[in-house]
Amino acid sequence: MRLDRFFSEQTAYSRKEASALIRSGAVTLNGAVVRKPDAAVQPETDAVFLRGEPVIYQKHRYILLHKPEGVITASRDRAQKTVLDLLNPQDRLPGLAPAGRLDKDTSGLLLITDDGQLTHKMLSPKSHAPKYYLAALRDPFTPQIKAAFRAGILLREGDTEEACLPAESEAIAERLAVVELHEGRYHQVRRMFAAAGNFVEHLLRVQIGCVPLPPDLSAGAYLHIFYKDAENMLIKSHISDVCAFTSRNYSSYWIK
Ligand code: URA
Repeated sequence: MRLDRFFSEQTAYSRKEASALIRSGAVTLNGAVVRKPDAAVQPETDAVFLRGEPVIYQKHRYILLHKPEGVITASRDRAQKTVLDLLNPQDRLPGLAPAGRLDKDTSGLLLITDDGQLTHKMLSPKSHAPKYYLAALRDPFTPQIKAAFRAGILLREGDTEEACLPAESEAIAERLAVVELHEGRYHQVRRMFAAAGNFVEHLLRVQIGCVPLPPDLSAGAYLHIFYKDAENMLIKSHISDVCAFTSRNYSSYWIK
């Protein structure tokens, strides 16, 4: 691969900016300054440094974001702030996109990646990553709601009604419940509670698969993670473990 291309893929510099940097002598390849933008680089084995800092090769990027309320899950939008606008300019690399959706009023765990294969796995019905939500409810959570969710509650889809996949749910307080979903319909958790006669006042995604929302990651902040961590989003957890984690860390999330 050409050195200028390596830079434009691994950093936020454009190919033109990368060429200028290389020509200026700011880049070393295996310990020697290179000034040729077309110098050949083996991304997996060569040591590339920019002004003394290593440029670590990564095939794909995995960003774990705590999405705040009021931001839309999109890559770009003319009028509204998107989840990609929350990233620092040097992290806004080409190809990054949210893997799945949270609605504007929902906060919580969201993966942003340029790994299309993992995104596909997370969203395809076959291997759909289990997602866990904490809902703050207007009215108490009841055994009837739990039974209706477990049976597959009916949601209106246009002119018809369609049953959701069976969903486990568990109360962690009178008006706080954790719901486990294996599919991703539009505003699904909110509509499920509405169909059961209740109302979701706030919604937080607390976990995807085995990956929890880190309690010390504040709304709007994010972390870079490795593939092996992101892949854990495909592994199912047990709802009782998610409830224990959620009640330890998030039961006062909306208390100001
Ligand atoms: N269910 C919702 O209602 N909203 C989300 O963002 C995700 C699941």
